[in-house]
Amino acid sequence: MKIQSMKYLITGGAGFIGSHFVKYILKNKKDASVVNFDLLTYAGNLETLAEIENLSNYTFVEGDICDKALVEKILKEEKIDIVVNFAAESHVDRSITGPEIFVKTNILGTQVLLEAAKKHDVPRYIQISTDEVYGSLGETGFFTESSQIKPNSPYSASKAGADMIVMSYYKTYGYPVNITRCSNNYGPFHFPEKLIPLFVTNLMEGKKLPMYGDGLYIRDWLFVTDHCKAIDTVIEKGKAGEVYNIGGNNEKTNMDIARYLLDYFDKDESSLSYVPDRPGHDRRYAIDASKIKNDLGWEPEHNVEDGLKETIEWYINNEAWWKPLKK
Ligand SMILES: NC(=O)c1ccc[n+]([C@@H]2O[C@H](COP(=O)([O-])OP(=O)(O)OC[C@H]3O[C@@H](n4cnc5c(N)ncnc54)[C@H](O)[C@@H]3O)[C@@H](O)[C@H]2O)c1
Repeated sequence: MKIQSMKYLITGGAGFIGSHFVKYILKNKKDASVVNFDLLTYAGNLETLAEIENLSNYTFVEGDICDKALVEKILKEEKIDIVVNFAAESHVDRSITGPEIFVKTNILGTQVLLEAAKKHDVPRYIQISTDEVYGSLGETGFFTESSQIKPNSPYSASKAGADMIVMSYYKTYGYPVNITRCSNNYGPFHFPEKLIPLFVTNLMEGKKLPMYGDGLYIRDWLFVTDHCKAIDTVIEKGKAGEVYNIGGNNEKTNMDIARYLLDYFDKDESSLSYVPDRPGHDRRYAIDASKIKNDLGWEPEHNVEDGLKETIEWYINNEAWWKPLKK
């Protein structure tokens, strides 16, 4: 779908990936406008959006995607062309200690958005999902869009539930949706509880790196702006009702990532501290992103070494952003 002056409702646009996407759209789509709708939980941060907050084609609304009346009001008044839903509780460890809010925000919130979007004839809805809905892989193989949905954590189960609801709106009502399922993102403005920013900032503070289990958990890492470009590609060229996997072709163990960072900061493995494993920890995720490559022509532009260097340098130069969050 390509409309010259498209109006986006971006939910969760004060979080890590959503804020990059808001900036991506405002930078790359000349006549577009963005309404950013975000509850500003611990993970939402308006300072991340300081560089665009005064643009005339950008509006911020503070609110909850579960708040039916407010969501309805925005969709009724704003003449939105597309809803892109990033809003979520996103941290697996938090979902283990407090799963309820994950079910509420990730599943109920998604349904509230979908229902309002359908009611007000918003022409397209994009659900930002995750490769974690597929569960864990053995040592070989890749997740394709038709892999079984087998989530293991309350976080991934809530995202899987949301995906099912989204697809039901396509199958039941013919409402035009897409789901994107991406691998692990990294880059600037990532909340410092997540692995890469936690490790980078701990190294900057002279602290140890907490390593789960044997450190051999494998994730496929994608630089955040490559993810934004992939979502934009799905919006422009994707076919309604389709799921698109998005991956970086960058499978690394947590130990590979730690070693790269230790090297950069001239530290050795005595800076690692092994901590008890996360319950239900998925061993390996790896994405087969050939559908989005072959059908829509998207491929990642960053390799993990360049992306990590850029990320480390950003954290070194932006202590004022992450230091208060770490407290
Ligand atoms: N980070 C990753 O590696 C990754 C990978 C694949 C998919 N995803 C998905 O991408 C999306 C964004 O992830 P992220 O890492 O940017 O998350 P994040 O935690 O950094 O940001 C989530 C944002 O949603 C907002 N939010 C939370 N609850 C809300 C509610 N009820 N109403 C409105 N806003 C609410 C928060 O304030 C925050 O700004 C999520 O849906 C996540 O599942 C993330």
